[in-house]
This record gives sequence, structure tokens and C-alpha cells, in this order.
Amino acid sequence: MKLFTSLVFLGLACAALSAPILDSSLLRTLQEKGTADILISFKNADVKNVRTRAVSQARALGGSLTAVRQSMFDALTAHADETQASALKMINKHRSSVKRVIPLWITNQISVKGATLKLVEDLALLGDISEVRIPSEGGLIEPVTYREVPESSVQAGEQWGILAIDAPAAWAQGINGSGVVIGSLDTGARISHVALRSHYRADHGWFDPIEDYLTATDYQGHGTHTIGTMLGSVNGIGVAPGAKFISCKGMDRYGDATEADFIACGQFFVCPHLPTDPRDDPRCDLAPVAVGNSWGYVGNDGFYDAVIDAWIDAGIAPVFAAGNEGTSCYTIRSPGTTAQSITVGATNNQNQMTDFSSVGPSHQNLTKPTISAPGQDIISCYINADSDTSYSSQSGTSMATPHVVGLIALLHHKKPNLTVAQVQAALIAGAQPTTPTGKTCGGIADSTYPNNHVGYGQISVPASLAAL
Ligand SMILES: *[C@@H]1O[C@H](CO)[C@@H](O)[C@H](O)[C@H]1NC(C)=O
Ligand SMILES: *[C@@H]1O[C@H](CO)[C@@H](O)[C@H](O)[C@H]1NC(C)=O
Ligand SMILES: *[C@@H]1O[C@H](CO)[C@@H](O)[C@H](O)[C@H]1NC(C)=O
Repeated sequence: MKLFTSLVFLGLACAALSAPILDSSLLRTLQEKGTADILISFKNADVKNVRTRAVSQARALGGSLTAVRQSMFDALTAHADETQASALKMINKHRSSVKRVIPLWITNQISVKGATLKLVEDLALLGDISEVRIPSEGGLIEPVTYREVPESSVQAGEQWGILAIDAPAAWAQGINGSGVVIGSLDTGARISHVALRSHYRADHGWFDPIEDYLTATDYQGHGTHTIGTMLGSVNGIGVAPGAKFISCKGMDRYGDATEADFIACGQFFVCPHLPTDPRDDPRCDLAPVAVGNSWGYVGNDGFYDAVIDAWIDAGIAPVFAAGNEGTSCYTIRSPGTTAQSITVGATNNQNQMTDFSSVGPSHQNLTKPTISAPGQDIISCYINADSDTSYSSQSGTSMATPHVVGLIALLHHKKPNLTVAQVQAALIAGAQPTTPTGKTCGGIADSTYPNNHVGYGQISVPASLAAL
């Protein structure tokens, strides 16, 4: 056995000289466990150019946003089909031994769950693969406080965060997110909860690349809580109580994920498909206007850029939590570190930044976060005791982020078909100063704007609507 194993690895090592790079932790995992989840990348992948060309062609023809998404999807899938053909053929030969294969057109990669040593060995012989490795692990941004709240003590009326950003001012104008769909990339959704049940868009509304549930569910609670803040319509918990949502469960019941699951969800939102497989009836006309991302990495900068760029071309605002690693500078999590992210810090009910909210600048010296929103002691719907009327109070930038997603739904209600640039401009134009705490990061005091603590300040619903 030992001789056999070393021969196999000698073979792999030789193949690796001419063909793909197999990382050493992959070989170790295969040796120890027999199978591994892998992410395959390709030498001739030219995602950025293919995407930009397809988008400009569709725009030059005066195409609608749907036409732009369709053009991007068609060009990138054709590109992936061509680049990935020999690898897919090889994977197909091993189909009975692998757990799941998810082709990723958005980054031109393939995610394989439960790949065997034999498959990896065969892939290593193909000349067109640039890399086979274990996808990096990530997950949700753990709330810093959590408290169950009995329904009887959830104050009727609007929660403090909803009042702090003055969402009721929009409702009074008849603007509540009606006709608008937003997305949640999180631990799933308890769609039977009273606060959410009339808001789930079931048509192409669910995908779970990590635990493979075919119907919407949430065994963790984080997803349900954040969606409640976006649009929950009970007890004044939601910013846009007229909006609908779709969900991609990129994280498992422990809140864990890998970059492959995040990418699989990223492409779901551009052209939502059936829960069974990304190739089953992708519908580029059913994309949301924004995706809430209350997850992130410490490090791993740039890994989501291709997805974020595609979202922006597709008219989907990329909203990311800053992280809960404050108060030191340079603690913003990725993908919130990326220039194109709308990165959200957390404020408290004293209109100050919280002491947990991650602080910029990014490692590239970008001023971050972009803006801030209420994130301390936020009451929203939950999953306790398998109940459809349970609530919890939580603190974190995960709770701030969905306030911004809800506001984006209101902006789109007032003015449909906004570009992401227009959305971002309206968020920034409406942002209000916070009470300074006397801190400085990246040479910028938190009394000047934008700064590395609250960005341009705390969001304001009426001010951003007025800025449209
Ligand atoms: C928004 O785009 C959709 C789809 O392209 C189109 O049907 C609709 O008329 C547009 N709405 C406005 C107000 O421009
Ligand atoms: C949202 O506003 C629409 C009108 O724009 C109205 O028909 C609907 O009842 C409102 N929904 C909620 C939950 O307030
Ligand atoms: C970082 O950016 C700020 C302005 O945003 C500038 O004042 C500072 O000099 C920059 N620092 C470095 C190391 O480039």
C-alpha cells in the first residue's frame, strides 16, 4: 500500500510538471481521507474580457438589463463549455464516484464535491487545467451578541434601527419595495415564518449548493434574521415590507462554507435556475436588484471580484458586511475590501459606530466601509423551537447589512432599473454624519467623511430617496 501510494504521488508529481498545479494540502487530504472537495481552474480562462465584450455588445444594441444578463450568460457559458470540455468529460467518466459537480461559468471553474484520488490523478494529465485545489473555507460573520426574544416582548411598531434610518417616511409616500426582488446569500430562509411567508418568491427562488436541500430551509437562523431586517412585515422589523426575496444557501447549518459555494450562489443570482442544478432552466430575467452578504473572510482578498463585477453589470448591488473585528484599523473583511463592494459598518442607537464594527482602510488603502447602518441589538425573526413566530436580538455588521439591502429595494420601487452606480450614489448622497468617537484610521479622523469607521455615515431612507 505504501509503495502504491508513493508511486501514485510520483506519477502526480511528474504530471504536475507539465500540467496543472496540484496543491500539497489536496494531496495530503486525498491521502488521509480518500476524497476531497476540489475547485478546478483553467489555463485559457478569459472571463473578464469575454464578459465585458458581451455586455458592451448587448448595450450597444440598446438591450434591456435582461438582455445584458442573457448576453453575459450566453458568452460565459459558451466560453466555459469550450474551456472545460475535456475536464467535464473526464469528470463524467468518474460520475458514479463523486458527490456533486457544479460547473461555474461566472469564474470559469468547476466545483467537485467528493473527488477521488483517481479523478484528481486523471485530471492532472489534462494539459488545459491550470490548478486543482481545495477551495478556501469561509463562513458567516458571527454575531457578537445573541438573545432570544419572546414574541410577547417584541415591541409592536417599528424597531429602533427602522426608526433610526426613518423607513416609515418612505412607507408614508407609498414606497415599500412593492414589485422589487432582493437576494440573500446566507444560511437559507425559514419561509414559513409569519414575517416572511408572503415575501418569498418561490419561482427560481432557491439554491443550496452546500447541503443540497431542494426546498427553502434554514437550520442556522442567521439567514432568516437578516432577511427579516430587509423586508419582514411583522412588528416593524423590516425596511421594505412590500418587497420579495430569493435565497441562495451558501452556508451550512454551522454557518460554514467554501469559496466554491459562495461562487455557485453568486452565479445563481445573475440568472436564477431551478434548485436541482445550475443548468436547469436559468432565467436571467429573474435576478434580484441587490444581494445581502453577511459573510466574509479575514484575508482572501479579491477571490470574489469576478462575481461582483458580473453582478454590477447585471444591475445587482453587491452589499457586504464589514466584519466584526473592530476597533483596530485594517480589519475589514473580504469581499468588503474590494473597491466595488458596498461595504457596511454597524452603528448603535446613540448614532455612533459600534466598538465591534471592522475598520478600514483596506489593505490597498481604500477608504472602507462605504456606509453604515444600525447593527446593535437588532430584533428580527428567528428559528427558535421550530416556531414561525420566534424572534431574536443580535448585534453585528451582519445585522447592519440588510438595512442597506432594504433601502435599495425602496430606491428601486421609487425608480425602477437603477444602475448599481446610481444606487451607490443615492446611498452616499443620503448618508448622515454620526457622532464622532475621536478615532483615526489611515490618517482620517472619524469626524470627516468619508472615514474608515462609518464611511460616508449612517444611511437615511428619506434623504437617499430624495437624492434620486
Ligand atoms: C425596467 O426594465 C424592464 C425590463 O427591461 C422594462 O420592462 C421596464 O419598462 C423598465 N421600467 C422603467 C420604469 O424603465
Ligand atoms: C406596499 O405598497 C403597495 C402599493 O405600492 C400596496 O399595495 C401594498 O399593500 C403595500 N404592502 C405593504 C406590506 O405595506
Ligand atoms: C491612504 O489614503 C489616504 C487618503 O485616502 C492618504 O491620505 C494616505 O496618504 C494614503 N496612505 C498610503 C500609505 O498610501
